[in-house]
Amino acid sequence: MIAYIKNIALLSLSIILLIACEDDQITASRDLEGIAYEPVPYVVDVPLGFPMLEIPEDNPMTMEGVELGRRLFYDPILSADSTVSCASCHFPELAFTDGLSHSTGINGAEGTRSSMSLVNVGFYYSGLFWDGRVETLEEQSLHPIVDPIELGQDLDVLIEKLKAHDDYAPRFRKAFGIVDRSQINRKLIGKAIAQWERIIVSGNSRYDQFARGEIGLTDEEQLGHSLFFDFDDDLKDAECNHCHNIPLFTSNTFHNNGLDSVGNDYTIFKDIGLGINGIANDTGKFRAPTLRNIELTAPYMHDGRFMTLDDVMQHYNTGVKSARNKDPLVSNLNISESHQFAITEFMKALTDTSYLEIPQVLSPFE
Ligand code: HEC
Ligand code: HEC
Repeated sequence: MIAYIKNIALLSLSIILLIACEDDQITASRDLEGIAYEPVPYVVDVPLGFPMLEIPEDNPMTMEGVELGRRLFYDPILSADSTVSCASCHFPELAFTDGLSHSTGINGAEGTRSSMSLVNVGFYYSGLFWDGRVETLEEQSLHPIVDPIELGQDLDVLIEKLKAHDDYAPRFRKAFGIVDRSQINRKLIGKAIAQWERIIVSGNSRYDQFARGEIGLTDEEQLGHSLFFDFDDDLKDAECNHCHNIPLFTSNTFHNNGLDSVGNDYTIFKDIGLGINGIANDTGKFRAPTLRNIELTAPYMHDGRFMTLDDVMQHYNTGVKSARNKDPLVSNLNISESHQFAITEFMKALTDTSYLEIPQVLSPFE
């Protein structure tokens, strides 16, 4: 009997010790607990007619989360030698592209693809990157950090840099309620950047104003509009709207738009694009990108092969190459120069830089 009581006493003592010990560990290092955690919801102003902005349940948008993501995006601390930031290849004034055919990362390393616009990126749900290889912005954000030709930074090293940082550790507390800087991890880095990316929204171009009945288009833009949307039976159907459709001016689907002459031989593609999924017929297909702000995002196509919109129109007019998986909606248009020009003018009516005026879009460091 006595032995039994003793055992129970020992057991409870050890339980108490265990709890105390765990508690000690946390109290000893709850270094951020004194900072208030009072997140304020961030509400995105979604343009009329846009799809719903899907926000993951475990990453609600807050002013604090957005601000943290903004800082991480513009801060070269994210690269191995602190020289390159996300913004080195995504300039706000170029709809977050970089004006280069192939982006340049750490130590001048050159990639093989052209940077992509981040405007309205929060609405793309069928795979990110030119080849759609990543599902969510939360996950996407970590890719350029570790990519050896982008930021080239080991994530564990970055996490240590952020833990040791006097400004960032409290910001992670304010954004995510962590009590201790040791809780900063890759998931929270991805979440913060994704929150910030979702605020970059644009839907007030001259085309949008026209669609809302507020303004008229010029004659040329109007002609381009009819060609683009196949609206006029007397004009050639340019078919553009099937892949670059409203409201985002992308269907976010993957196609071969006839850039390379490969016939039946899929091994010729320099970049296999969607083909990373292992399906031969998807080789050389890329995501149809948005045409919103297209005037600002030259050069064009996944490899930046066309310098101007006139070059792009020349491709769709007479330059379409043969490939077994070329989309049947793309074939040489053979329309007049003035009609090509009209489509270009219409595309220029899709420019809207009002996203630059959204508080928290621009760099906090300038
Ligand atoms: C060295 C230049 C470079 C840097 C640095 C860079 N990017 Fe990019 N970004 C690119 C290129 C090039 C692509 C297209 C890559 C591909 O398709 O494989 C891209 C694509 C993206 C996309 C996909 C957009 C879409 O519509 O699918 C997002 C989002 C993005 N980058 C965000 C970021 C973030 C966040 C950072 C920093 C953590 C960053 N980028 C750093 C060049 C860069
Ligand atoms: C069958 C789908 C499809 C049709 C139809 C189509 N496109 Fe595209 N478009 C794409 C794809 C896919 C890409 C990206 C290809 C790549 O980079 O390899 C693209 C790229 C572009 C680009 C370059 C975008 C950038 O950010 O680099 C422009 C501009 C463009 N298309 C305009 C048009 C116009 C104008 C028309 C009508 C004359 C049209 N497209 C018809 C699928 C299509």
